[in-house]
Amino acid sequence: MEKTYIMLKPDAVRRNLVGNIISRIENKGYKISKMKMFNLNEEVLKEHYAHLIDKPFFPELTSFMTSGPVVGMIVEGDGVILGMRNLMGPTKCEEAMPGTIRGDYAYSTTENLIHGSDSKETAEEELKRFETFLD
Ligand code: PPS
Repeated sequence: MEKTYIMLKPDAVRRNLVGNIISRIENKGYKISKMKMFNLNEEVLKEHYAHLIDKPFFPELTSFMTSGPVVGMIVEGDGVILGMRNLMGPTKCEEAMPGTIRGDYAYSTTENLIHGSDSKETAEEELKRFETFLD
């Protein structure tokens, strides 16, 4: 069964949207096999967002992602990596269609509620990276 790493960002926790987002994942038929609320540190964020370190928005992204707890989870299902990306909607909130998580609730590209692995390779890396945080 395919697995992906999903992380509800600090805005999802602050806005009390955790239950709603979890319901959408479960209603789709995916299985949440592990889940935990925890705080991120700068070290893991530098690794996780290594491809974005030179972007002008990186400081804002780091400060946002450490502004409160996140909810990390392993989600399983057939084609779940792409399926979750479709359920989430695209990164840019203005491009996310109604019916998707970001399309319905996100009004910012930084505070866009949810992260999901974008490929099999990334999913493997991220599941490993966050393994100890989920224990
Ligand atoms: S790229 O380089 O645009 O393809 O980057 P991508 O892998 O899609 O992820 C971008 C992540 O950075 C977060 N972020 C922003 N992206 C674009 N513009 C601005 N201003 C911005 N601020 C933050 C964005 O939410 C993506 O986070 P994740 O956790 O990967 O969804």
